[in-house]
Amino acid sequence: MGASIKCIGILTSGGDAPGMNVAIRAVTRAAIFNGMRVKGIYKGYKGLITGDIEEFKTNSVSNIIQRGGTILKTARSDEFRTPEGRKTAYETMLREEIDALVVIGGDGSLTGANIFAREYNIPIVGLPGTIDNDLNGTDVTIGYDTALNTIMQSVDKIRDTATSHERLFFVEVMGRNCGYLALNSAIASGAEAAIIPEISMEKDQLGELIEQGFRKSKNSSLVLVAESEITGGAMKMAERVKNEYPQYDVRVSILGHLQRGGSPTAQDRILASRMGVAAIQALLEDQRNVMIGIRENEIDYVPFQRAIKKDREISDELLEVLRILSI
Ligand code: F6P
Repeated sequence: MGASIKCIGILTSGGDAPGMNVAIRAVTRAAIFNGMRVKGIYKGYKGLITGDIEEFKTNSVSNIIQRGGTILKTARSDEFRTPEGRKTAYETMLREEIDALVVIGGDGSLTGANIFAREYNIPIVGLPGTIDNDLNGTDVTIGYDTALNTIMQSVDKIRDTATSHERLFFVEVMGRNCGYLALNSAIASGAEAAIIPEISMEKDQLGELIEQGFRKSKNSSLVLVAESEITGGAMKMAERVKNEYPQYDVRVSILGHLQRGGSPTAQDRILASRMGVAAIQALLEDQRNVMIGIRENEIDYVPFQRAIKKDREISDELLEVLRILSI
């Protein structure tokens, strides 16, 4: 079957992530290298429905390796969630003679890919493109390292003012319902704690911090808070501390979408390049409905169903490192 794939379509979907362009470049060039044609589909699944598609040549992806965002644009398509929307998308594929798809995105995008692939028996390979690092079967996702670095640099700056004013800062970071961004950026920026959904579900993390005496021996404190309904976010934390401990001079900083932008780090560029080449290799090997993952620095094929299972566990070792180093 792999050999019969003459033309692949490539799209980016969901929240953008630094390194998506690197992945588009790698998939395009690896496909052309292996004798396939490539069609760039704009605005994710939406473009597959409306037929917003362009043939890509090797130079269509020149000079994009260093750029954040995605040249293919991205969207979250409500229409693709409906059987009618997916039928139209399939008809577009037939009309455009696209035999297989490479989908770059997070769990929502891969969930859509999984349904579509099964419904129409289409070979689809996914690449994990999200800053959230919330997919199973891969140690890291494309964009995560860049976002971590962006957060670290921002928190370094917040630390300057926190120290000068002897303040307690709650810094809110993205991650949807996953605490990896918050936990690792807390370690990387020397924060006192990370409040994350995985732990907040089990216990009152803020209450514990307060009990331990926030500042311990320090005059200023930084606490990274993962956005999520479970943690309640940084504003809620700050309100609680202000009410219960008026002696603390509390401030909140919500980093927001700046975490999603910027030039990808070397690590993300190498990861996206390897994964892009692996996606084409997977199609050549007749793989379908798999996400390309990376485990212990080796490429792995992860069935969509496992990748999107929302039960990624947080690392106890990382939690322990933060706990030890924040004394
Ligand atoms: O999934 C990536 C992500 O940045 C999440 O961390 C965040 O919750 C969400 O997307 C924000 O989405 P939007 O760009 O639609 O505001």
